[in-house]
Amino acid sequence: MDKKRFRTHSIFFRLIMVMLVMAMVVIFLFVVVYFLASQEIPRISMSAHYFLIGFLFFLLIFALYSTYHVLKKYIAPLKGLTRAALEVSEGKFDVKVPVEGNDELGELSHTFNTMALEIREMMNAREKMLRDVSHELKTPLTRLKLAIEMLEDKSAKDSMAEDVQELEDLVNEILEAEKLRKGIITGEFKNADVISTIRKVVKTFDKSTPRVLLNNMPVLFELNFEEKAVQKALKNLIQNAIKFSGPDSSPVEVSAKQKADRFVVQIKDDGIGIPEEELSMVFKTFYQVEKSRTKAPGKTGGYGLGLSLVQKVMEAHNGEVKLENNVDGGVVASLSFPV
Ligand SMILES: Nc1ncnc2c1ncn2[C@@H]1O[C@H](COP(=O)(O)OP(=O)(O)OP(=O)(O)O)[C@@H](O)[C@H]1O
Ligand SMILES: [Mg+2]
Repeated sequence: MDKKRFRTHSIFFRLIMVMLVMAMVVIFLFVVVYFLASQEIPRISMSAHYFLIGFLFFLLIFALYSTYHVLKKYIAPLKGLTRAALEVSEGKFDVKVPVEGNDELGELSHTFNTMALEIREMMNAREKMLRDVSHELKTPLTRLKLAIEMLEDKSAKDSMAEDVQELEDLVNEILEAEKLRKGIITGEFKNADVISTIRKVVKTFDKSTPRVLLNNMPVLFELNFEEKAVQKALKNLIQNAIKFSGPDSSPVEVSAKQKADRFVVQIKDDGIGIPEEELSMVFKTFYQVEKSRTKAPGKTGGYGLGLSLVQKVMEAHNGEVKLENNVDGGVVASLSFPV
């Protein structure tokens, strides 16, 4: 970073100037009040009297006006920086704040932009490595599957096949997420009835605990969407709702309705919920609130990929996914599509 570009006018210097002006005004005010209150008053003319008061008033307005401008000048970029920092905390690393002026704030904005760029490059490198490793793993995994098929020991064969399947699912999820990240949806967008797609997905969970129920659903609703991708998104959200519920939790409820120019599908659970401060973080690739929360018997830990995938599916549909904590416990996940 070019450090020499900055520091020619420091904020410190400008604030000192403002404070000096204010101090002068206050001293002047004291002198005038003292002067007016003293015995000298009858001796000065009325016009000098008015002049003094007018001048004092002018000084006061000038001091207030310059303080307001100096503060406004520094608060505006700080607001911009706070907004940008918030976006970075939500995983949007392509933010850039305007670098205005050559003081400390200009330097801070410049450093912030450099930091966001470096994080973006780091993330890209991480995703590239993940994608390359996943590609490389595909062939040996297929070979391993074939080799396992040849084994004679049935129990060893089953458990090895299960492990390899888990690895293959992970590799496929990473590759799928990568395609979606680039906006590539392999299937075709079609105008079709989305309700039958929702019903199809819910039906695949008919043996789950807690149960998954359809609730408040129009009979038919035509939408332009890619069926496979939306099925995947719904499946991920319902799996989460089940995974983070207890065996005694109320059933997971799936509902859908049109709200103005949006079609909204909601998945409501009665599970452990998500700490408020982590609600926006869970969409990041590999982010999990606390790994130990998913180690309940019979429940798979997962990889923290599901929600990032859902978010990408929704972006490809110009829609959005939102998670909220329910007032009486659990999470409400909403998928909102433009109609
Ligand atoms: N309905 C929910 N209730 C409570 N916590 C949730 C819920 N949905 C998501 N979370 C939290 O968000 C994290 C990220 O979810 P995500 O679906 O991306 O990953 P995962 O379910 O852990 O793994 P994967 O989906 O890759 O199998 C979860 O680990 C969990 O901590
Ligand atoms: Mg998940």
